[in-house]
Amino acid sequence: KETKLWGGRFEEGVTDAVERFTESISFDKALYKQDIMGSRAHATMLAHQGLIEAGDKDIILKGLDQIEKEIEMGKFVWRTDREDVHMNIEAALTDLVGEPAKKLHTARSRNDQVSTDFRLWCRDAIDTIISRIKHLQSALVILAKKNEGLIVPGYTHLQRAQPVLLQHLLLAYVEQLERDAGRLLDCRTRLNFCPLGACALAGTGLPIDRFMTSDALGFSAPMRNSIDAVSDRDFVLEFLSSNSITAIHLSRLGEEWVLWASEEFGFITPSDSVSTGSSIMPQKKNPDPMELVRGKSARVVGDLVTLLVLCKGLPHAYNRDLQEDKEPVFDSVKAIIGMLEVSAEFAQNITFNSERIRNALPAGHLDATTLADYLVKKDIPFRTSHDIVGRSVALCVSKNSQLQDLSLDELRSISPVFDQDVYEYLGVENSIKKFSSYGSTGSECVASQMDYWMTRLSIN
Ligand code: ARG
Repeated sequence: KETKLWGGRFEEGVTDAVERFTESISFDKALYKQDIMGSRAHATMLAHQGLIEAGDKDIILKGLDQIEKEIEMGKFVWRTDREDVHMNIEAALTDLVGEPAKKLHTARSRNDQVSTDFRLWCRDAIDTIISRIKHLQSALVILAKKNEGLIVPGYTHLQRAQPVLLQHLLLAYVEQLERDAGRLLDCRTRLNFCPLGACALAGTGLPIDRFMTSDALGFSAPMRNSIDAVSDRDFVLEFLSSNSITAIHLSRLGEEWVLWASEEFGFITPSDSVSTGSSIMPQKKNPDPMELVRGKSARVVGDLVTLLVLCKGLPHAYNRDLQEDKEPVFDSVKAIIGMLEVSAEFAQNITFNSERIRNALPAGHLDATTLADYLVKKDIPFRTSHDIVGRSVALCVSKNSQLQDLSLDELRSISPVFDQDVYEYLGVENSIKKFSSYGSTGSECVASQMDYWMTRLSIN
């Protein structure tokens, strides 16, 4: 067995069980690109500051290139006895180029190194997630465009409430996703500060230039406080909080579409390409992808909770517990990207059953609130008009009819204020025409929302 990079003071090696238990190479090798990037910036800075010779720097950089190539070609051997990605790469570099490699860890610790690598990794992941969010938003807007004019029942308490344009409902999701992307951007801005040079926790007496490495790695600035730099993981907590909120939005979308695909609703028909069957019931066609979108939201929330609990009791500065921060983040990112991609595919592969939706619209007195507004326009106080319409609905319920089927005499028996023009307010088609407030489901308001999103997402 080779001596550990930190082995100087030790007389014997760790047991196999301890080695297996403490390693992180099995998962943190995912950070190799960021680790090499960080080492390149660090070596370049060390040479610039006269801490290593230019020739050594060149050898280090060439060696790092070689190692990166080997990793990418699948030829690099990851060793558990070298613990983690940082020591695997440093030790491999030493095997490759000898002495100069031993200077690379000058004024650096794995504590600032891992926080740097992980920030770089999260930064990339955020960019990928945001691009997937935009893609889903576009799929929803295109779906909305295809179904222009389609009225669907709007629900509260999952009971029929008021008529809404399908476009309006789909754009509600687009708005939510926009805030999700905004939260990720905020998180990206806050995490984009460089821990490198904080060393173990206290900084260093060597004349390093932290601004130089920070710039080289695309960070806004070096982190101000070296203890903070190696201790905190609030950037991943924030990242996973954001992902959790996105996951909850997608879970609600999943729930809605699963419901709508049911025989009972029958609002949508997913194509075969986004459906799966049953191993026993030959007739089944299930919306599994959206069920799994709903299901995977559980792990995204779970990953956040894991990290919250992980950080809860940690004294400053670095503690090895923090090694446990990687897998939940990898898991969360993988899940959220899959959820976004599959939701977009689902949106591209469903048909709204407009006939069936139209036939279902008369049920549930969706026009009742519009009727109350009619009375308000006739100077009836809203509370009174609510009561009048409530009694009109009760009459409908007793006769098993709709508000628009009541005769003017019947309506007048409830309130003399009703006039012939009331019929312009009744029925779902009429009712929806009356909406005009900013952000409402009125067709002009929805059309301008559509314009906004088509432009913003560059859809023509
Ligand atoms: N593998 C470790 C992690 O992921 C790297 C930092 C280890 N630092 C230390 N002093 N043991 O957190």
